[in-house]
Amino acid sequence: MKSGKVDVLLGLQWGDEGKGKVVDVLTPNYDVIARFQGGPNAGHTLEFEGEKYVLRSIPSGIFQGGKTNIIGNGVVLAPDLFMNEAKELEKSGHNLKDCLCISKKAHLIMPTHRLLDAAHEAAKGKSKVGTTGKGIGPTYTDKISRNGLRVGDIFENFKEKYAAHKARHEKMLESLKYTEYDICEVEKAWMEGIEYMKQFRIIDSEYEINKMLKNGNSILCEGAQGTMLDVDFGSYPFVTSSNTVCAGACTGLGIGPNKIGEVYGIMKAYCTRVGAGPFPTELFDDTGGKLRELGREYGAVTGRERRCGWIDLVALRYAITLNGVTQLIMMKSDVLDGFDTIKACVAYKQNGKEINHFPYNIDKGIEPIYKELPGWKTDMTKFTSEEQFPKEFNDYIDFLEKELETPIKIISIGPDRDQTIVRK
Ligand code: GDP
Ligand code: IMO
Ligand code: MG
Repeated sequence: MKSGKVDVLLGLQWGDEGKGKVVDVLTPNYDVIARFQGGPNAGHTLEFEGEKYVLRSIPSGIFQGGKTNIIGNGVVLAPDLFMNEAKELEKSGHNLKDCLCISKKAHLIMPTHRLLDAAHEAAKGKSKVGTTGKGIGPTYTDKISRNGLRVGDIFENFKEKYAAHKARHEKMLESLKYTEYDICEVEKAWMEGIEYMKQFRIIDSEYEINKMLKNGNSILCEGAQGTMLDVDFGSYPFVTSSNTVCAGACTGLGIGPNKIGEVYGIMKAYCTRVGAGPFPTELFDDTGGKLRELGREYGAVTGRERRCGWIDLVALRYAITLNGVTQLIMMKSDVLDGFDTIKACVAYKQNGKEINHFPYNIDKGIEPIYKELPGWKTDMTKFTSEEQFPKEFNDYIDFLEKELETPIKIISIGPDRDQTIVRK
């Protein structure tokens, strides 16, 4: 029997690696693109033909034409934000109605989830996570505690169901002493979003995906956030509330693990993080500032400054193992084009002892051990083939491949779709 394939694309660092751009680049090779976790905390940027788009809940496969895009059961969806995102895209001439489906089992982010997100952050005070404020944690909490409201619920007695959930949230907000709010307007837009969503195909996505696979179609699963933000394996508690690792594609879409072929691990040539939490290679000096300015490292969703640092091979080795990464894709190498030397963290020192693993506690006493490599001092942004790469850049790639024991198959040399070099 003819059977299709499933490949998974995900971030290996703390998010914003450039997943959106790569999904768009790889989309022509697939029939279906499916988001498997996260929600509007994601901001996936795509640039082509002089236009720039930031996608939050909608998969990054919508621009290449003729592909099915699925918002999977593992995603949490805010109807109002989804409506705004979809309407913007429609305004710019991208009709989504024929190509976008939503899982009935995706959970809904209610306005009160966003209030709870803010209330929990306020209660944490100095130790707050620095969330995106989109209600991600409270929505996944309701899902796991079996209190969630799902997309499939919108067709029957929805107002009653909504009111019951809202009342429960209001009690929680009261107990957190978070009472100064007015959600009337937001609620109106949210309910409009619910009606708007009904124009899309709302499906049993696990059945449809497996049927498509049986019929020989190929599926690319698009991850959000990054491995170091995974709720089980990331820098807990400074993480998001979903499984961002490859296994999340199985639970977030209903795909058997034996169906997964390639696992594309996306990483920057350096490293960034937005929000609070440990970041061993973070740079607080001019070099960090230079990375931020050259890499335009400001959040796609919140506009927050991203913290910048050198590439962390200890964390990357950990991420590659957790995901079973089969090939690496290195983004933003152009940001390092002008540097005299480049550093890579090859191990950590913890309490005076050298360690090579990502430890349970990374918030205290971790010092990166760096290897310094010569920079290539060449503007590569207009290169079209790997033959043009300078020797120092090839040496950097060789070094990374050896350290990470995984091939780097694609190099991104700029934000545009065309600034992508596939290595032979
Ligand atoms: P995602 O969340 O993983 O999809 O990544 P984001 O879109 O949040 O952040 C990546 C940022 O880097 C976006 O602004 C992209 O346009 C940009 N970008 C992607 N690849 C490259 C690259 O190779 N070079 C440069 N300079 N920018 C890139
Ligand atoms: P993409 O898909 C970078 C971070 C937040 C915060 C933590 C928890 O664009 O790579 P949440 O709102 O999820 O409860 O916040 O996770 N975070 C991201 N950082 N990229 C993202 O998504 C992120 N999504 C969440 O900054 O530290
Ligand atoms: Mg992003």
